[in-house]
Amino acid sequence: MITFDNIDVTFDGFHALPGFNLTIKEGEFFTLLGPSGCGKSTALRTLAGFIQPAAGDVWIDGKRVTNLPSRRREIGMVFQNYALFPTMSVEDNIAFGLKVSGVARVESARRVAEIAAAVNLTTDQLAKGVAELSGGQQQRVAIARALVLRPKILLLDEPLSNLDAKLRHQLRIQLKELQEQFGITTVYVTHDQDEALTMSDRIAVMNHGRIEQVGTPAEVYNASATEFVCNFIGEVNRLTPGSLGALRSAGAALLDAEGESYVRIEKTRITVPGGHGPAAAAGVGGHGPAAAAGRAVLPGVVRSKQYHGVYSSYKVEAAGGLFKGIIQEHGHPGFGLGDAVEVAIDSSDVLQYAGAGL
Ligand SMILES: Nc1ncnc2c1ncn2[C@@H]1O[C@H](COP(=O)(O)OP(=O)(O)O)[C@@H](O)[C@H]1O
Ligand SMILES: [Mg+2]
Repeated sequence: MITFDNIDVTFDGFHALPGFNLTIKEGEFFTLLGPSGCGKSTALRTLAGFIQPAAGDVWIDGKRVTNLPSRRREIGMVFQNYALFPTMSVEDNIAFGLKVSGVARVESARRVAEIAAAVNLTTDQLAKGVAELSGGQQQRVAIARALVLRPKILLLDEPLSNLDAKLRHQLRIQLKELQEQFGITTVYVTHDQDEALTMSDRIAVMNHGRIEQVGTPAEVYNASATEFVCNFIGEVNRLTPGSLGALRSAGAALLDAEGESYVRIEKTRITVPGGHGPAAAAGVGGHGPAAAAGRAVLPGVVRSKQYHGVYSSYKVEAAGGLFKGIIQEHGHPGFGLGDAVEVAIDSSDVLQYAGAGL
């Protein structure tokens, strides 16, 4: 278990982490998510022992490690740029830490071979120079180099940021599988909400050095605790006062009249007129035989459509606002510009905040 206990990190009077508290469980894949500059790397580097906090303590497995040098914290770290030794072979890169800690040559070779196999690096690749490998392969070398020392904790700071989109998606899965295979407590840093949602057991969403919410991917997505989290994760419709009023009189009376209100785009349902009521059972794109309690239905007109292959995203003008929604393309005839449609929103899907929180 890892605990940040009231950590304060200051750079020349600037509080990068002002009173940072967080607990990460054994074996967890935990992600620090937030925009650039919010303090993710600072938190990770404080845990690793590269940054000394001005106040507070770091605990690992019940031991206060605040004053313990980095090398004695049993932590493996992978950086965004991998920080490999460019002139050394892959094998020597992976073996570097073992050599430094005086592990005998035979034992070192055995452990390097073992870890290389686990991350799918071939014997051929081990003999190559690091520069001869692709970005994805270099990333696996960096992970192997960290894991070969059998750390208790693996820290990954934006390890996929330098790769192209397709490779990034593949490596997400590989990285997650590797973590499960080793069962190693992992702290992952990213600004990419999609990465965080797909890989993590739990996520801490950070903003200006503070944690806005800690929760499972589904918790931070569906029940965003703050306006910042709601906006940072996923895509939302921000309701204008006019559309909030219209929703309240059209069936969503439970909603607060005040404050900032949002609904996620995939929970903003767009159907043919009448597609939300009792007649919907047979209707294209209908949402069930009867209107749900607290569901507000507004008449609208399609103003734009973007085709994405799997789905199309629409903007519908209704009740003093534009509502973005998505419709799966397969098995749906779709809508054209100017079509009359309905927008239906369940009041339980509306996220409301006191306001002025951004
Ligand atoms: N060594 C440093 N000296 C001065 N300011 C720093 C230093 N490291 C980070 N900062 C500042 O602390 C804040 C958090 O930085 P960082 O942890 O790198 O953010 P992130 O990793 O979330 O992008 C930023 O405002 C950054 O400019
Ligand atoms: Mg960073």
